[in-house]
Amino acid sequence: MTLKDKVLKAHDRQIKLSYRLAKVGYDTFTGKLLRLRVYYADALILIKNWRDFLYIRKENIGDKYFAVDQAIMHSTHSQVQKLMQVEPQVRGNDLGIIRILAPSYMLNNPLSLGMNGNQHTGVRALFLQALPDPVAQADVLGNLVNQSLSEAANRGQLHIGDDLPGFMLQILHQLVFQISLSAEEITASRTYIKGLALASFPTFISKYLLAFKTAPNIKHRGRLIERYKQSPKWAAYLQTAARYRLNEHQIANSLFDMIHIAGTAGTSALLGSVIGVLCLNDVLRGEVISEINAVWNGKEALNGYALEQSTLMNQVILETARLYPPVRFVSQLAKESGEVAIAGQQCPFQKGTRLLGSIFTANRDSNRYQNPDDFDVTRDFSDLLSWNGEGHERACPGKSLSIGLIKVFLLYLFQKYQWNSITQVQWDFNNVTAVTPNDLVLKGFAQHL
Ligand code: HEM
Repeated sequence: MTLKDKVLKAHDRQIKLSYRLAKVGYDTFTGKLLRLRVYYADALILIKNWRDFLYIRKENIGDKYFAVDQAIMHSTHSQVQKLMQVEPQVRGNDLGIIRILAPSYMLNNPLSLGMNGNQHTGVRALFLQALPDPVAQADVLGNLVNQSLSEAANRGQLHIGDDLPGFMLQILHQLVFQISLSAEEITASRTYIKGLALASFPTFISKYLLAFKTAPNIKHRGRLIERYKQSPKWAAYLQTAARYRLNEHQIANSLFDMIHIAGTAGTSALLGSVIGVLCLNDVLRGEVISEINAVWNGKEALNGYALEQSTLMNQVILETARLYPPVRFVSQLAKESGEVAIAGQQCPFQKGTRLLGSIFTANRDSNRYQNPDDFDVTRDFSDLLSWNGEGHERACPGKSLSIGLIKVFLLYLFQKYQWNSITQVQWDFNNVTAVTPNDLVLKGFAQHL
């Protein structure tokens, strides 16, 4: 059977299931079991062919279609933008398309993405307190980034997939808790992130059958969280959290997820893509280097001015985030049952159905972006969806820090470091890992003399 046949046949089953769920109930035991079956059936295809899966369904079924656990996928820019702006939003404990079915992997604290109401307002207040303003703290970011890059220089190479996540973990722990992680802790945190998909198996499988894999990760999380409580910043977090009646467990776990899942995975993937784009495009790289020379000479400590004046770099980062969005899906729950037109039929859907937004296809929607697959820094990015839009309850709180950090990396890379060759720059649109050129290596990586 061809991939197309598989993807469409699995969708036929989803359509049939929509009528069946209307009869047996969405959240009954049978309903849950039936949804789990289609979830894993779609997931098996998605894991190895995520981009083709999205486009085969979009081109053959329409802009809205069923996917994974009978969720309704929205694939155009206007649909996804509208979805993101719904307020208040009702969420389940989901990470994009991944359903967290074993909360034990997160020490039984839901992701902030899965929180609602006062609890969600509280953790957002905590995030905003914990995340520094990159312009005000440019020198601090500069020193941390320089430390990371000098480690790579000592090794003589910068490896996108292997090095950047570790750098980000170290930097974010310094910024949020003023603590330094050991090499072993960084490795354990990286293993934790890589193992996130293990949380989408039911508890029985994740916690017990796969204990040989999950137990060390969970143990690491527990240990790190105890370290957070020793941080000089802990008392200030406790004070904020008390206003929203959040306890220590919720604070530490939510900040753990903020650093590991949202911060590290997202920013290292985007930074890797930006480096990849600049390695491939000599003209653009030359223009970025000219801008860097104009805003910072590399001799004085970095200041906020250099970040504010790096306007071309800003556009490069936004355009890269459009083409290679680190977060590909956003998810919320339908507040009421209803009907949705899919494949020319009015299909019933139930209250609690997941409404998914596909940022990847929305960002490449030809009704919104001219020549959507071309890299073009002159575009209007005012309604870019990659950070979940702007100015609403679920927009990414780390947007300015992540852009600031990437700018600081570029400033240091091009002003203070050099390399003599690169390996192939390639984005993998099949395997559902981070969208970044993971195998890219800058060889002969060294500090400028
Ligand atoms: C310093 C780096 C970052 C931090 C600390 C951070 C933090 C967060 C947090 C805590 C949330 C959850 C917000 C909530 O529950 O209301 C979030 C959401 C989100 N972030 Fe970030 N983020 C970072 C970088 C990025 C990057 C680089 C991107 C993509 C370009 C990104 C895209 C998103 C998106 C799309 C969401 C919404 C997800 C959803 O609603 O399902 N973030 N971020």
